[in-house]
Formats: sequence, structure tokens, C-alpha cells
Amino acid sequence: MIINQETIVKDNDPKIREKSYPVNLPLSEEDKKLMEDLYTYVKESIDPEIAEEKNLRPAVGISAIQVGINKQMCAIVCSDIDKNGNEVNYEYCLVNPRIISSSVQQAFLSNGEGCLSVEEDHKGYVYRSARIKVKAYDALTNKEITIRAHGFLAIVLQHEIDHFSGTLYYDHISKNDPFQKIDDAIEI
Ligand code: NI
Repeated sequence: MIINQETIVKDNDPKIREKSYPVNLPLSEEDKKLMEDLYTYVKESIDPEIAEEKNLRPAVGISAIQVGINKQMCAIVCSDIDKNGNEVNYEYCLVNPRIISSSVQQAFLSNGEGCLSVEEDHKGYVYRSARIKVKAYDALTNKEITIRAHGFLAIVLQHEIDHFSGTLYYDHISKNDPFQKIDDAIEI
């Protein structure tokens, strides 16, 4: 499958609002290939040379619905700084991820979010849970995993899982006050 900025489903296509469905495990050969294609997209998109050559927009995650497939699958490659100030890299190929608990405390990216399916910039804060626990099957390690996420990773996970219900980041931005402040929310 060729995934690039041309082929990715955009928000002017009603497809992006469709629901995604759980995937049968073990993964079929077709689903393994799809997962690999999603993962390869994200990996290559952060390499400036490959990205330019293949017309890839840099991303930290992509969900299957963004290539037109209604399956609960997403690939994530991102990094964050841990409490000791060290960079930590995260790579996941998640199948059927579900949030099993989430903090009441909220967090948001100070620069706002972006999405491969959204070409127009929507300014404003997207509030999400600051800490979440996610269960999923990870096709990178071939294991059922539990991710305890906070910070940037928690935001990325919630953004990708939102795609399974057809939700886009700007749906969460307040129409009346896009930069509204919420007490106690963590700025990332
Ligand atoms: Ni997105």
C-alpha cells in the first residue's frame, strides 16, 4: 500500500468520521502487512530525506482509518523526556487498544495538535487526560501489553484512539474560547 500525503484520507472525506472495529487475533497476513505499512509510514516520515522523496508529512502516529481501513490499529513512534531529563523513545504497533483508566487531571500541548488528515491549522487547546492506562496487543513485540502513559505519549495515544470513533482533535477545541484555561491542567 502506498501511504503518502496524497493517499491519506482527509477530513473533507466522510470516511474519516467512520467507526473502526476490533481486529481478530492472531493477525491475518493482510493485517500484519497493514500494520507494517502504518509503522513504516511513521518511521520514514520523521526522516527528512525520505519524507521529501516520498511526499510524507512528519507524524508521530497514524491510524488505519487514515488509509481508509476501519480497523482498530495504529502505529506510534514518539519520544518524550522522563522525570530525570532523559529522552525516552516509544514505538508501538497497537491492535485493539483501549483506555482502561484515565486521570481526572487534564493535559494539553501548548502548541496545539496536528493530524495527517487535517491540512488546515485549527488553533486552540485540546484537553485530554494527563495520565491513562491502555491495554492493547502490540504487533511490534507480539504481546498483550499495558501502557501507563503520561505526558506527550498519553496525548498521542488518546489522539490515535479517537480516530477509531471518527473523532478529530479539533472537535475538542472550545468554539467560544479556543485557548481557555482549565485549572490544574498540565501544559506540555
Ligand atoms: Ni490524527
